[in-house]
Amino acid sequence: MELTGVHKSFGPHAVLRGVDLAVRRRETLVIIGRSGTGKSVALRHVVGLERPNRGEVRVFGHDIQKASRRQIHEIRSRTGFLFQSGALLNWMTIEENVALPLLEHNRRMPPDEVEDRVLAKLKLVGMESARRKLPAQISGGMKKRAALARATVLDPDLVLYDEPTSGLDPVIASTINELINRTREALGTTQIVVTHDMESAYSIADRIAMLCEGRIICLGTPQEIRSSDNPIVQQFIQGKTSGPLALES
Ligand SMILES: Nc1ncnc2c1ncn2[C@@H]1O[C@H](COP(=O)(O)OP(=O)(O)OP(=O)(O)O)[C@@H](O)[C@H]1O
Ligand SMILES: [Mg+2]
Repeated sequence: MELTGVHKSFGPHAVLRGVDLAVRRRETLVIIGRSGTGKSVALRHVVGLERPNRGEVRVFGHDIQKASRRQIHEIRSRTGFLFQSGALLNWMTIEENVALPLLEHNRRMPPDEVEDRVLAKLKLVGMESARRKLPAQISGGMKKRAALARATVLDPDLVLYDEPTSGLDPVIASTINELINRTREALGTTQIVVTHDMESAYSIADRIAMLCEGRIICLGTPQEIRSSDNPIVQQFIQGKTSGPLALES
């Protein structure tokens, strides 16, 4: 997955201003940055949910701008997406939600096999006993775990996680981090994780990229990020109120 010189504006508001980022096969790359800097927007470009105004987005060798509908479909079938909002469908049970990508991308899969695969993923995230419940009947942490099962049910080559631990208690957050690490070990997936949670970033990242004012201002291993001499990076990772990042920006 590679973004090259990606620019994206919404009306007069320039959000991405030349993002360059290449993700290596089988790595977990974490994107950090302040609220509203365009992390979710960047992630949505990877699956063609946003189109850049300028620049190139390449996924599995395809230029997303030039890809045919069939190629976009192929990219999406090889990519799991855990949306920031969780985005479970409220009128479907947990197991029906997890089965959705299978039904969408593998219409000929026999119902028994769908059921087996859904159950296997729900077991992996410790959710098999809640499989007949509706999203409204389970807690926020359980919803995230169900969304994680859904994002990985196709055994994707690439998984995108948007804030997988936000709003969760620290114990559940570490369970999610473990599941992210386990997913990569089990499936050999490439993963891109957007988060504000530095503890989570350090425990899952091979490399961390920081997005600020529309560009990647720093990219390196957790150790390199920790010892970065960029004051913006230090202010962010230490969570300080004083520094070059203005509060209102
Ligand atoms: N479809 C859209 N139309 C107009 N503006 C948008 C759209 N999507 C995002 N934006 C704007 O782009 C900016 C970046 O949004 P984005 O959701 O990517 O931020 P973020 O870095 O993910 O923030 P957070 O950490 O709070 O999730 C915001 O100012 C947002 O209002
Ligand atoms: Mg976001």
